[in-house]
Amino acid sequence: MINVPRGTQDLLPEETEKWQYVEEKFKALCRTYNYQEIRTPIFEHTELFQRGVGDTTDIVQKEMYTFNDRGDRSLTLRPEGTASVVRAFVQHKLFGNPTQPTKLFYIGPMFRYERPQQGRMRQFVQFGVEALGSADPAIDAEVMALAMNIYEGLGLKSLKLVLNSLGDNESRTNHRDALMKHFEPHKEELCNDCQVRLDKNPLRILDCKKDKDHEAMKTAPSILEYLNDYSQNYFEQVKDYLDQMGIEYVIDKNLVRGLDYYNHTAFEIMSNASGFGAITTLSGGGRYNGLVEDLGGPETPGIGFALSVERLLMALDAEGVALPLDNSLDCYVIAMGDNAEKKAVELVYTLRKAGIQVDKDYQGKKFKAQFKTADRLNAKYVLILGEEELANNVVNVKDMATGEQKQIRIADIETTLEKLVTGGTN
Ligand code: HAM
Repeated sequence: MINVPRGTQDLLPEETEKWQYVEEKFKALCRTYNYQEIRTPIFEHTELFQRGVGDTTDIVQKEMYTFNDRGDRSLTLRPEGTASVVRAFVQHKLFGNPTQPTKLFYIGPMFRYERPQQGRMRQFVQFGVEALGSADPAIDAEVMALAMNIYEGLGLKSLKLVLNSLGDNESRTNHRDALMKHFEPHKEELCNDCQVRLDKNPLRILDCKKDKDHEAMKTAPSILEYLNDYSQNYFEQVKDYLDQMGIEYVIDKNLVRGLDYYNHTAFEIMSNASGFGAITTLSGGGRYNGLVEDLGGPETPGIGFALSVERLLMALDAEGVALPLDNSLDCYVIAMGDNAEKKAVELVYTLRKAGIQVDKDYQGKKFKAQFKTADRLNAKYVLILGEEELANNVVNVKDMATGEQKQIRIADIETTLEKLVTGGTN
């Protein structure tokens, strides 16, 4: 027997119903916020992520599915969506569109070679949005509002929006110098990764799981003390807009995020639900002014976020939220006798063309067993067609909720059922 690769999963129909439901909700929400869908390839040139996500990140250093294709080009299964969206924005000159900012959303699988555990997969699906072309703090607040809306709209309550500012380049450089000075005397005590980070990207030390209890972590200089006036003011405005919308948040000066492209706003949404598990981050995002230029485009600010559907569904489970899934079938046709069987095939086809959900038996089951199937499929109506009915050009329609049964002329069945399933009366 061959099973799925580690860190991946099959989604069977019972699960895909939930996925379809949350996907539709996300798409509808994006329409409400006026974000439009973009679809980019599952694999890209490896260089895109090296430059976009950043050479010193865990993602690029140890988590990418990178391979050479038959033409000896290095390609990588996308570990995230932002770099690809920005590449497409530059490649197709979307910055030239008269309507800016360019507001895009995406849904799709991402790939990271991580140690699998609950909520951490090697293939996972992200919902994400990116708004390119505006440095207005109101759009930072908009992206966070959208992110909170998707969770709240699905019925989650135990949520925490965690916010930080990483400042602009000047603030970051000053903070970086301070971090280097702070950690240098402790270099030998830090883990191997952090020793490298100290020279290359000391901010990432603050995010280290191994060194998180080191004394020097507690006294590390905070970026918030190094924000210059512009960055400070920007951060204040973002918070003001969140306050204005009544969106609660907490500031975490150690929130640094795992990708290199961030500046100014950085945020994560966590689940507080007991039983959610060890990983509590539901989604993350932030501002990435500079990324468009890094990928060859004109100076363009950007902000976005992404969540994974796997963790979203885990949070729904942890909070005991049942999605209002409609797993009923409009109609099940039961035929008895060879001629009725033939007519049933035609009837099913006619009804399906009218947009009514219909199914019938294909197992040669007896009447009773067919009825059971109809019941199991949550059929709202059962159509019964025997030789006698056929001879009279009628069909029996049973309302499964009330048990009521009526004879309807075959010629009228389409209109009758249309009325019934759309909630009208016959
Ligand atoms: P990220 O924090 O790397 O950011 O990932 C965003 C979300 O994807 C996480 O909060 C988590 O829900 C989910 N996720 C990440 N890795 C896994 C995994 N192995 N298994 C399951 N879920 C996972 C980004 O990817 C950025 N591109 C977000 C962004 C968009 N920033 C600006 N725009």
